[in-house]
Amino acid sequence: MIKIMINTPKGGVGKTTTATNIALLLAKRGQRVLAVDLAGGLLMSQALAQTPEFAAGTGNKIDSRETEAVPTRFPGSSNFDYAVIDTDDSYTVFEDLLRADQNGWRVISPINPLDQVGLIRIPHELRGVAVGAYLSPNGPKMKVFANMAYPGDATEGATILRNALSIEGIEVLMLTTTVPYASTTSAPIRLSDAAYNTALNNLLAEIGI
Ligand SMILES: Nc1ncnc2c1ncn2[C@@H]1O[C@H](COP(=O)(O)OP(=O)(O)OP(=O)(O)O)[C@@H](O)[C@H]1O
Ligand SMILES: [Mg+2]
Repeated sequence: MIKIMINTPKGGVGKTTTATNIALLLAKRGQRVLAVDLAGGLLMSQALAQTPEFAAGTGNKIDSRETEAVPTRFPGSSNFDYAVIDTDDSYTVFEDLLRADQNGWRVISPINPLDQVGLIRIPHELRGVAVGAYLSPNGPKMKVFANMAYPGDATEGATILRNALSIEGIEVLMLTTTVPYASTTSAPIRLSDAAYNTALNNLLAEIGI
C-alpha cells in the first residue's frame, strides 16, 4: 500500500481539498483506496461518504481517527493499493515519520501562493523538513505545489511560490504542476472542473502515481 499524506504547516491552504480529490480520483481509476481522515473537521470523510466510489461494498474505505501523532500502521492495509491521508496543521508529519523511520511515504504539501502570511511562514518551516529528509535518505520524501485556493493566475502563482521557496533555498521541492482554482459548487469535491482534474492527474504523475 502506497501512503500519500497531504500536510502543510498552515491552515486553509487546500490540504482537505487535495486529499479528498486525490482519494476520489484514484478510486475512479479503479484503485482500492483507504481514505484516512486525521483532520478534526472530518470534511473529507463526509464528502467521500456521499460518493458511490466509497459506498459500502466497494473496495474503498473511509477511516477517521483522532490521534496525536501520524499513525504508521493501518490495519487491513493489504486490502488497499493506496492510503490517502488528510491531516491538519497540528501534525508534525516529518518528525513523526522520521522518528518512526518510515520509508515509502509520499508527502505532498499544498501552498496557496496568494496567501501572504503562509508564503513567508511555510517555506521557512519546510526548510527544516527538507534538511531532515536530506539527512535521512531512506526516509519520507516531501514535495510542495502551488494550489490556487483563491482565484488568480496559476502561472503567476507558480512564480510567486518558486520565489518564496528560493529565499529558503528549497525550490527543488516544488512540483511543476500548479493546481488551478476550480469554481465548482460541489466543494470539497472539484473533479468536475476539467482543468483541476487534469492538474491533479499531472501532479500524481509527477510523484510517480
Ligand atoms: N484548487 C482550489 N480551487 C478552488 N477552491 C479551493 C482550491 N483549494 C482549496 N480551495 C478552497 O480553499 C479553502 C481552504 O481549502 P481546504 O479546506 O482544502 O484547506 P485546508 O488546508 O484543509 O484547511 P484547514 O487547515 O482549515 O483544514 C476551502 O474553501 C476550499 O474549498
Ligand atoms: Mg482541512
